[in-house]
Amino acid sequence: TKYFQVAIDGPASAGKSTIAKIIAKNLKYVYVDTGAMYRSITLAAKKAGISYENEEQIAELLPNISIRFEPGVPVQRVFLNDEEITEAIRSTDVTNNVSLVASYASVRENLLKYQRQIATDNHVIMDGRDIGTTVLPDAQVKIFLVASVEERAERRYKENTAKGMTPDFETLKKDIEDRDYKDSHREISPLTQASDAILVDTTGLSIEEVVSKITNIIKKNQ
Ligand code: C5P
Repeated sequence: TKYFQVAIDGPASAGKSTIAKIIAKNLKYVYVDTGAMYRSITLAAKKAGISYENEEQIAELLPNISIRFEPGVPVQRVFLNDEEITEAIRSTDVTNNVSLVASYASVRENLLKYQRQIATDNHVIMDGRDIGTTVLPDAQVKIFLVASVEERAERRYKENTAKGMTPDFETLKKDIEDRDYKDSHREISPLTQASDAILVDTTGLSIEEVVSKITNIIKKNQ
């Protein structure tokens, strides 16, 4: 491959996007948030009044969906057919239904093409669930980012509280566990550590510590 590819996979709320955005900015790579793409399709189905269970109608909707990113740290803006959906794709409804929509073959094939296309034209740091295993199997660096479920729920709890929400810790924890279970047990490209991925456990580490750890791994492989 002509361009450099960094794949970051791992369970929900492990800090993948936070870390990837900072590294992308530092190294001048394009950051690709594939989770935001699955979330955008989930939201598009909702806006079209299509049930999340209806794979056929969601598949028919795909050719009419265009997803665009405007890079930024800490917030990357997301647009669905020119309508800004940056915040809407983080709603509880989208979060709790995205794993079902992401399990559909039609949806995954559609996004796979888009994701690979971006990586053929740019140095990328791409985060998701199947980047190292399926999307970019030849990536020069593959990271599998994990953290204890308690810490992941705590990070989400703080984020939501900062947004003015009143989250319930146990509910957050259960939602994270449910989503990880669905993502790890689906038929197509389930969440799993690629055999050549480096495991990074961020439990108890600061953002700066994780950024420096992964940046060092990238530099060693460049
Ligand atoms: O990363 P994020 O939590 O935003 O991802 C939302 C959902 O999108 C995941 O829970 C998963 O169901 C789906 N996803 C996926 N494959 C990817 C990235 C995300 O199936 N590469």
